Parts: sequence; C-alpha cells; structure tokens
Amino acid sequence: LDPLVASTSSREAGAPDEFDIAPKIPTRYARTLRHEFNAVVVEHHLKWAPLCVETNIAGPAQEPRRLGRYDFHHADAIVDWAIKHNMKVKGHVLVWHVTSPTEILEEMTPEQVREQLRRHIFTTMAHFRGRIKVWDVVNEALAPDGSLAENIFYRKLGPGYIEECFRWAHEADPDAMLLYNDNKVEGMNGPNKRKADAFFHLLAGLVKNGVPIHGCGIQAHFNAAGTGRNRPPTPRMVKNQIHRLGNLGLKVNISEMDVRVSQLPPNLRQIAQRQIYHDIVAAALTEPAFDGIWLWGFTDRHTWVTHFYYDDEPLIFDEEYGRKEAYYGLRDAL
Ligand code: XIL
Repeated sequence: LDPLVASTSSREAGAPDEFDIAPKIPTRYARTLRHEFNAVVVEHHLKWAPLCVETNIAGPAQEPRRLGRYDFHHADAIVDWAIKHNMKVKGHVLVWHVTSPTEILEEMTPEQVREQLRRHIFTTMAHFRGRIKVWDVVNEALAPDGSLAENIFYRKLGPGYIEECFRWAHEADPDAMLLYNDNKVEGMNGPNKRKADAFFHLLAGLVKNGVPIHGCGIQAHFNAAGTGRNRPPTPRMVKNQIHRLGNLGLKVNISEMDVRVSQLPPNLRQIAQRQIYHDIVAAALTEPAFDGIWLWGFTDRHTWVTHFYYDDEPLIFDEEYGRKEAYYGLRDAL
C-alpha cells in the first residue's frame, strides 16, 4: 500500500530556491517531499497543453495553428528526481479537456482530433515508458448531474472517446496501470449521489466491454464547511463507494485530497481538518481495493486552492513546512 504520497505543485511553486528540485539543491520543499512521502504526481507539467508547445505562432493568421513539438524537460526533471529518490510516479493526466490545446482542436475535423489525441497518448507514454507505470488516462469526463460532459472530445469524437483513449493507452504501454479519475464521486448515497452512481456505472460499463482499465481515482477535494452537494461524504459513504468499485475488480485510490477550512470559525479549523483526513483515510484503508492516498500538494505554501479559489490552508504542512494537526490525523490513520 502506498501510504502517504504527494503532488508537486510545480505550477504554484514559489521562488526557484523554494521549489527547485534539482537533485543537487535540496530545498525545504524537496526535503519534505523526499522524507515524508513515497510517491509523486505531477500537478501541471504532464498535461497536454503544457507539454505540447504550440508552434507556428507567428504564422499567417488564417493558417490553422498546429500542435508543435513536445517539450518534456520540466516533467522529466520532476519524474527523474522522484525516481532518483526511489519514489513512485503517477502520470496525471493524458486526457483532460481543461488543459488540452482546445482552441486548436476546435478548428480540426473529428478525424484530425482523433489522430492528434492518439498521437498525444502514444508520444507521452512512449517518452515515460518504464519510468511512469501508472497513468490517469481520462480525467473529469462526468458533468455534475452524472451525464457525460460535452467537452471538446465528446463533441468531436462522441461518448466512445473514453474507451478509445484507454485502448490507445494500453496499446502504447501494455504494462501500464490505467486509471479513470474524477471529483465529487467519493461517497455512495452521499451528497453527490447522481454523479457517484454515474461514476460507478461508467466504470462498470468499461469493465463489461473489456476495456483495459485497472483502477480509478476519487479526488477528494473537500470543503469542511461545505453544505448540500459541497459537504464532504461521510467515511461510511466513502467506504461503500470503494467497496462497490472493488467488486468491479478495480483498484481505487484517493487521488487529490485536500480539505479546505477557511470558511470555518478559526478555532475549529485544525481539529475539523484533522478529523476528516483521519476518518476518510481510515475508512478507505478497511477496503482491500484501496491502494493509495495522493494529496494535491502537501504544504499550504503551495496549493492550487489559493490560486483557483480563495486563500485557504487545505493541506497537512503549514506555510513554513511545519506539521499540522492534519498531518498527525493522517499519520494515525495509516
Ligand atoms: C490543477 C493544478 O493544480 C493546476 O496547477 C493546473 O494549472 C490546473 O489543474 N482536478 C484535477 C487536477 O484533476 O488536474 C487539477 O489540478 C485540480 C482539479
């Protein structure tokens, strides 16, 4: 079991000395990551748009811009650093509409998009073959109501794009473990029942059709003060969701956990956060299908929440890399 792992927040990192993971310069970030975790997921630089440098920018305006060469140097630095320190690496994520070169794809025919998507999967997996053995293949294909989100890939290729991407990924690297990843799907009969059920049925259909899928990630971006569909699921709901996914023969990981607390009264934040990290992970660990916990960052100094939402302290180390109550809650659960 991979107990405690982390993501690298290369996107939100602070000054180079803060984050620079060049092996020769052990920094607070790299030192904490190396000593406290046994695996790494790349938060930004393994996605399609960051990897595939758009070229021909200076070309005639009317000429459709084309997808240029791949620039793997930043992702390689993170992946090679992790491997150097005997850490497992999860590839996140081959197909996600949010960080794909969508403007260019919009200008293409369905057949051109299919070819570009297939090329992206083969190019990226070939580059990291042997170094990255677990991949999030498709991310967040479901809409909040549980229907398939009509993103660029759905609109161009139809609902079958998910199955096609898994088959291409398996062809690109038959040894890789292939995962489907999504959010607000963590609890059975929970606050997002429709989406959580749709997540289960989507995966059940892929398994039934013999699609090469081996597991799934439930993101677990929680808000301790959330209400309605934004409240966290109970530990029992998470346990039951992992259990039924395991019955499909799939492994399940908590893939991007963080717990927002800034909307709680200050005196309740630490204990509430500790309780959620502890109780959710302790419940997940009772299920044989559960195979790892991945945080989305690990220090409040670098969290996507502050860049994408509002100032918060969702992680288990504070801004000065001190261990928080949540750290001990998570450690006690493992
Ligand atoms: C976010 C990263 O944290 C940012 O650095 C990046 O700019 C955008 O994506 N769900 C996901 C992740 O699956 O890929 C997202 O990560 C957060 C939401």
